Amino acid sequence: MKIAISGKGGVGKTTIMALLAGEFKKNGKDVLLIDADPSPHMAETLGVKNPETIKPIADMTQLLVERSGKTEGSPMYNMNPEVNDILKDFMVSHDGMKLMVLGAIQTGDKGCACPENNVLRRMLTKLLLTKDQVVLLDMEAGVEHLGRGTIAGIDQLLIVVIPSKSSIRTALKVKKLAEDVKIPKIHFVGNLVLDDEDKQFLEAGLGAKPIAFFADSAAIRRAERNEIPVTSLENIAENAAADLLLAIQNGK
Ligand SMILES: Nc1ncnc2c1ncn2[C@@H]1O[C@H](COP(=O)(O)OP(=O)(O)OP(=O)(O)O)[C@@H](O)[C@H]1O
Ligand SMILES: [Mg+2]
Repeated sequence: MKIAISGKGGVGKTTIMALLAGEFKKNGKDVLLIDADPSPHMAETLGVKNPETIKPIADMTQLLVERSGKTEGSPMYNMNPEVNDILKDFMVSHDGMKLMVLGAIQTGDKGCACPENNVLRRMLTKLLLTKDQVVLLDMEAGVEHLGRGTIAGIDQLLIVVIPSKSSIRTALKVKKLAEDVKIPKIHFVGNLVLDDEDKQFLEAGLGAKPIAFFADSAAIRRAERNEIPVTSLENIAENAAADLLLAIQNGK
């Protein structure tokens, strides 16, 4: 299963993806997290030491060469680094999970993120997964990047939304774009939800009920400030991450 997360800036995408990754791991899944945000933050959220030393997959020139047709065939990639030389250098293992960072190719072209997006698109569409493997893609805020096809090959999109009008507006734009590129399942996930009024506000504004709600959590805020991995916190937000996993697995 390949799951991506999107939503307005700062709504909690990286936090929720990290918590979800922890839940998948607890359930015996082999988890690969891909941080596709040009300002990556997943490594810090997971407590990876020296995150700046992670080699970005944007540097994976081998995939770019294949894309330009300079090599024969159309290989598939296995996410197990023991058997996949191409991916091995770009994956770090941490706390029983794997992490890759997209990064950005530095070119003179203003604003063109094409080469790294090509690498990511190939990775996602060519990665062969067993049923015990899950790929979680943490994405840049907003909607601009969705037009670049980086969520091709994704099975489910989670759109994080907090109880504010502007967050709902962005969430609805993301949903529209995701429908246009034919993502099979699209779900809203509520964050910083305090009470029933917040839940009802979200449901009315979105025209659909979020599949899980995360409360505003002092433990999460404190963890971020003190550089404690969010995945090490027990009973976070009344086990919302477990609810989220269940909803995903039930394929609602
Ligand atoms: N449920 C929550 N309770 C308390 N704090 C939260 C919660 N979810 C996220 N936060 C905090 O909000 C801030 C933003 O969260 P996060 O980085 O996950 O958002 P993001 O959507 O990934 O942001 P960006 O758009 O910059 O990538 C962080 O400081 C995080 O600790
Ligand atoms: Mg983020």
